[in-house]
Amino acid sequence: MKIVQISDTHLTAAGGPTEEGFRILARHLNSDVRPDVVVHSGDIQVLHPDDAADRSRSRELLDLIDAPLLVVPGNHDVGMPGLDAWAGLVVTDARVAAHEAAFGPDHWRHDTDEAVLLGIDSELLGSGLQREADQWRWIEQTLAALPAGKPVLLFLHKPLWAVSDEPVGHQVDVGPVARDRLLGLLERTELRAVGCGHLHRYRRVERGAAIEVWAPATAFLSAGIDEIEGRHELGFVEYTVTDGAVSAEFRLVPGMPQLSTDDVPEIARAIEAMTAAAV
Ligand SMILES: [Fe+2]
Ligand SMILES: [Fe+2]
Repeated sequence: MKIVQISDTHLTAAGGPTEEGFRILARHLNSDVRPDVVVHSGDIQVLHPDDAADRSRSRELLDLIDAPLLVVPGNHDVGMPGLDAWAGLVVTDARVAAHEAAFGPDHWRHDTDEAVLLGIDSELLGSGLQREADQWRWIEQTLAALPAGKPVLLFLHKPLWAVSDEPVGHQVDVGPVARDRLLGLLERTELRAVGCGHLHRYRRVERGAAIEVWAPATAFLSAGIDEIEGRHELGFVEYTVTDGAVSAEFRLVPGMPQLSTDDVPEIARAIEAMTAAAV
């Protein structure tokens, strides 16, 4: 079976370049790639989780994809945990509820004949919200009840494994506490792939019997985290599941422009404002 992972679409009610790129992507997936399922690993909407117009426009645009679509939220969809949340956008119950009303549950299990796909809300990890405790209970129960002999693919917005040995100033992965707890629970499963977004770059690394995959963005190349490795191009990931084995490849989208933060007005303005505030 063929699974496509897209990520970091950063769509806005104002339309603009991220929407143009997304429309090219959707057409390519529908007419050329024809996946069995598509997973969106978060940062669906451009910047602010409370922008209802961005959310409803994003919903309309995601509906352009013909294949069944599964979504996990990113920090720009529901906020992020902790005191050092980007631009003070902290994950809250209301933000997750608004996301779920548009896109469905923030964590899910999707069974196919060949694999089990799991999605979790990385932005709850370390938040201390009741929703975090509820998700942990769901993860424990779900992992304990997985069928034998089927590969498991896990999707979440933030990377599960540490991104860098050096601190990079803001949250780039789920952090050691959630990572150790999740990896402990996943030990007894047939985990074969962990796909995330957030970094706006592609990388594939072997982690025991599993591959860790950073999905590239479709919206724009990120600025300011040059110390992080990976392929810095826009595109998507194509997973193939054959006889219990899972592989993943980076794919470019023909005709889709390689935009930077300067090309997306909302993002360029936000970076400018934050730089000014930091001075
Ligand atoms: Fe993003
Ligand atoms: Fe993100």
